[in-house]
Amino acid sequence: MGFSITLQPDNDTFTAEAGETILEAATRNGHKLARGCGDGACGMCKGNVLQGAVDHGKSTEIGLPLADRDAGMALFCCAKPTSDVVVERREMSSSWDMLEWDMPME
Ligand code: FES
Repeated sequence: MGFSITLQPDNDTFTAEAGETILEAATRNGHKLARGCGDGACGMCKGNVLQGAVDHGKSTEIGLPLADRDAGMALFCCAKPTSDVVVERREMSSSWDMLEWDMPME
C-alpha cells in the first residue's frame, strides 16, 4: 500500500509506491528535487517533514545529524513514508544540486 506525499511549496500530491523513497516517488512524478549521492551521506536532498512519519532507512548521521532528524528533517533519498506525509523541499541553489553521482563511495 502506498502513501500520499504532498510536496510543498508546490502543493502537489502524488502517491509513493510501497518501499519507494520520497525522492524516487517525486522523480517518478516529474519533480526535480535537489540530490547528490543518493545514498544518505551528503545531505543535499535534505528537507522538512511537515506532517506524517517516515522511515529514515539508510540515512547516515553525517547526512542527517540527530539534531536535524529531531527537528523534523529527512533525507529524501532514504526516507520512505510510513503514513501520508506533507514534505517541504529545499530550494535548489545551483546546478550542483541536481547532480546524481554515479561514482562508488569508498
Ligand atoms: S542525495 Fe546524498 S544524502 Fe540524499
